[in-house]
Amino acid sequence: MKVCVIGSGYVGLVAGTCFAESGNDVICVDVDHQKIEGLKGGVIPIYEPGLKEMVLRNGEEGRLKFTTDLDAAVKESLVCFIAVGTPPGADGSADLQYVLSVARNIGRAMESFKIIVDKSTVPVGTADKVRAAVKEELDARGVHIEFDVVSNPEFLKEGAAIDDFMKPDRVVIGTDNVRTAEIMKELYSAFMRKSNRMLVMDIRSAEMTKYAANAMLATRITFMNQIANLCERMGADVMAVREGIGSDSRIGYDFLFPGVGYGGSCFPKDVKALVRTADECSYDFVLLKAVEEANERQKRILSDKIERRLGQGGDKPLAGMSIAVWGLSFKPRTDDMREAPSLTIINRLLELGATVQAHDPEALTEAKKHFGDRIGYHMNQYEPLKGANALVIITEWNEYRNPDFDRIKTLLVNPLVFDGRNLYQPGRMREIGYEYHPIGRNG
Ligand code: UGA
Repeated sequence: MKVCVIGSGYVGLVAGTCFAESGNDVICVDVDHQKIEGLKGGVIPIYEPGLKEMVLRNGEEGRLKFTTDLDAAVKESLVCFIAVGTPPGADGSADLQYVLSVARNIGRAMESFKIIVDKSTVPVGTADKVRAAVKEELDARGVHIEFDVVSNPEFLKEGAAIDDFMKPDRVVIGTDNVRTAEIMKELYSAFMRKSNRMLVMDIRSAEMTKYAANAMLATRITFMNQIANLCERMGADVMAVREGIGSDSRIGYDFLFPGVGYGGSCFPKDVKALVRTADECSYDFVLLKAVEEANERQKRILSDKIERRLGQGGDKPLAGMSIAVWGLSFKPRTDDMREAPSLTIINRLLELGATVQAHDPEALTEAKKHFGDRIGYHMNQYEPLKGANALVIITEWNEYRNPDFDRIKTLLVNPLVFDGRNLYQPGRMREIGYEYHPIGRNG
């Protein structure tokens, strides 16, 4: 099938590459010349395991092309995916200007029947706006060409994007046209196994499904974070509680890890946008508003603990202290720093007067864009520990799971660890002489 994917960001690039991998002819489009030139030469603008190899292979085999020429890509394709960004606007709602401008460009370029697919996360009602924008352009050209608009939200996770795309739990297709549903099913058939599901539904429900899924997951994490905070006060162990509740098949074990608050480009943005959508139709979504607030507070948990333990009072209670940080990206296996809890935590530590020395396996370059020369950056995970008063773990990269504790002890001024991801066993940490502060369990 001939497919174009407009917007070569995270979702667009992964989707386009995976569609090519399953044998389709794919053209990835972006307005960013530099990005497109890079991609043609195999330079991948994001870090995502396995993506580079797949882009190169499909490029060599001629199934995956990159261009800035949207018109030509649309003319050649039956299915046109819109996968451009929907950043939060000033009021928290998703900014649709890029999506609608692509829709208009498609309307200007198309010469035959097209299936136009909203792949970006867009609020309920966007498909109608896309349809109207395309129609307006066709009318302005004085032509009548049929087209369909489909909502096909994406559920992939960064760091596991290719696997999530190629082996999805489900594919949601929002359309009111049977023929279009069949074409979309055919496109996805390569990724369907017995156990996963293709769900065809009306367009608005498909649009809402994406927000509901992310909002539910963000709520679940936040709920667990608050249970963890309570566990600490009550002397309970949140990891045991997680096992205890997760074993109920109605609850399940996933996405119940407490931590330093959810981050990334999706949960914070989508929760905000759904609250905003609710406000727009005069519905007060109190639960989600509370989730947002609780998550902001959770991002302060670690710096508060450090201040309580090491603070010397005054304006700059951590003056003269050096804090070693492990993990800057919002989660492992990505270099993405968007809404990363490390931003809040480190800025707070700096405000309190501490100096910060940080390690991250992938995100140092991204982190420099945020912190500049206000913190130190290290390629070796043990280097920031030299002379530090404490080690703080913010992101659960695998290399932090079994570190050389003897070495850490010789490098730190105090054997003091604040762990925002519960990587270690409190009992064992005590045995080997550490003062350990995990989340939601006694150290
Ligand atoms: C999320 C969803 O999981 C995807 O299904 C969705 O497609 C994507 O948003 C999107 O809308 O595009 P992603 O943002 O890549 O994916 O990352 P997640 O793995 O979901 O993690 C989000 C945040 O929750 C991270 O900060 C992570 O540390 C935190 N988290 C996750 C926890 O604190 N505890 C958990 O148990 C799980």
